[in-house]
Amino acid sequence: MCGIVGYIGTEDTKEILLRGLEKLEYRGYDSAGISVLNEDGVHLFKVKGRIAALRDAVDEKVSSTMGIGHTRWATHGAPSVDNAHPHQSASGRFTLVHNGVIENYTQLRDEYLKDVELKSETDTEVIVQLVEKLYEQQGDVTEAFRTTVSLLHGSYAIALIDEQNAEKIYVAKNKSPLLVGLGDNGFNVVSSDAMAMIQVTDRFVELMDQEVVIVQRDGVQIQKLDGTVVERDSYVAELDASDIEKGTYPHFMLKEIDEQPFVIRKIVQEYKNEHDNIKLDADIRKAMQKTDRVYIIAAGTSYHAGLVGKQLIEKLAKVPVEVHVASEFSYNMPLLSEKPLFIFISQSGETADSRSVLVQIKEMGHPALTITNVPGSTLSREADYTLHLHAGPEIAVASTKAYTAQIAVLAILAVDTAKAKGFDLDFDPLQELAIVASSMESLCDQKEEMEDIARNYLATTRNCFYLGRGVDYFVAQEGALKLKEISYIQAEGFAGGELKHGTIALIEENTPVIALATQESVNYSIRANVQEVVARGANACIISMEGLDQENDTFVVPKVHELLSPLVSVIPLQLIAYYAALHRECDVDKPRNLAKSVTVE
Ligand code: AGP
Ligand code: GLU
Repeated sequence: MCGIVGYIGTEDTKEILLRGLEKLEYRGYDSAGISVLNEDGVHLFKVKGRIAALRDAVDEKVSSTMGIGHTRWATHGAPSVDNAHPHQSASGRFTLVHNGVIENYTQLRDEYLKDVELKSETDTEVIVQLVEKLYEQQGDVTEAFRTTVSLLHGSYAIALIDEQNAEKIYVAKNKSPLLVGLGDNGFNVVSSDAMAMIQVTDRFVELMDQEVVIVQRDGVQIQKLDGTVVERDSYVAELDASDIEKGTYPHFMLKEIDEQPFVIRKIVQEYKNEHDNIKLDADIRKAMQKTDRVYIIAAGTSYHAGLVGKQLIEKLAKVPVEVHVASEFSYNMPLLSEKPLFIFISQSGETADSRSVLVQIKEMGHPALTITNVPGSTLSREADYTLHLHAGPEIAVASTKAYTAQIAVLAILAVDTAKAKGFDLDFDPLQELAIVASSMESLCDQKEEMEDIARNYLATTRNCFYLGRGVDYFVAQEGALKLKEISYIQAEGFAGGELKHGTIALIEENTPVIALATQESVNYSIRANVQEVVARGANACIISMEGLDQENDTFVVPKVHELLSPLVSVIPLQLIAYYAALHRECDVDKPRNLAKSVTVE
């Protein structure tokens, strides 16, 4: 969610910061700003809206070799220029950017800042005012910064500059992601993720919660809050800068939909040993064998992948699985089994809701496995084990290739566990996934048909219902999420049989209903549900699977193993959502109000 960049070096900073912020745009934001420092002092540029507008607002003539930048996803105060970051202290000496939420900002304000007139509605401004207040008392900037950080409760990634010292950027983090990138020639950078700065360096240092970092041109010093210096090695981020370019595609979402066959093939390759069997970390295998119940924790699309994963693990490995929405888990914590294993599914590996469950269950002493697209992310670092999705950077806010990658990896995990338990299976996931990849390819070649469906069913509607039974119900939920998040059409996924218990009241003349029929055992009953809605005027679109298809089905996906059907049936739904959003002239890759990595709870 939102992001931070910082640069201190020898080059002109504006362009480096703006480019860095552009690379963070995919995370979602509503306003943006940069501050650069030169011999004339601090220059502040802020806008509501896009980085393109910030580019226009930045004064070309101001040159500087250090500065900080921010994209804001408003949590306290409306998106506006006043609330946009950077924020400044009363005298203007200190300038700060912040991602996250300061939970005790009203207490801090009442206790320390009674005499300060705040200029914004943000929780953030309290931090920078507090630095100045404590500096006035303590006389040392580093100490004032450390003390300030020690007083903050909540989540934060912060970067601060001092008008009177162009040699240092002060950085700290807690729960929110932040990295320091190391340059070779007298420069260093700060960034919410490696992708934003991969153009200037591939060497990064991880920061831990409640550490303070002093970033200078020729070095970086990490300190604990008591001032003790911490040594930490850097690592090389294995990112290909070209992976994060759109190439000839109009949108990242379309590119990422098209990448799915390659991702599935890559997963097969990564999880296969030289004997063509599954290759998986022996410790993960042991943990899966040992557990008496798996608890899957995830949000949004990753939660939907978790629902499919439950079926796979229960059917193949015979281990009971519960799937929980991360943000609800703490309030509705189930009675845990004797030997629970927690599986966190997260594309970004940074989702705050999931991370807070991870912290909680780690305190309880339970083992955790993270399935993520970003090795080195917080959820990966803090879990005992990680399974990598190998999907390549996913930039579009609407998750597509991560969803199918998550299901593929869960299928491999389920089969591996089944085999380790000695079950005889006539299901080879690596072979079946290869078939899936080819089917995905043929689906991606049928875009015009999806465009037609989007135009015929969704061009002017204000709502749309998705129906499915069994695993199709889970895919229906994902299809509805895709549609609503990028086209703003109100959409819900329902279990076919549940419809008559209330929702059918919403069916009117021409209400679009998209039904999935990929499961033999429910083929008859889902079609009966479609008849029920058609009888009430619905405009029904049936997406079925080869072998189960009937005359007049709107679209038929190629036949794949029933257990893996979500991997193919979701593709038309992704494409239909894409084209519906396009018809409505929505910003497909950066939908309103949404963020790519949701780093606040
Ligand atoms: C997907 O299209 C959404 N943008 C969103 O639901 C997402 O899946 C969710 O925020 C979880 O993110 P994660 O996988 O990075 O944890
Ligand atoms: N809570 C801060 C604000 O609303 C920071 C939000 C963010 O992470 O961008 O300004």
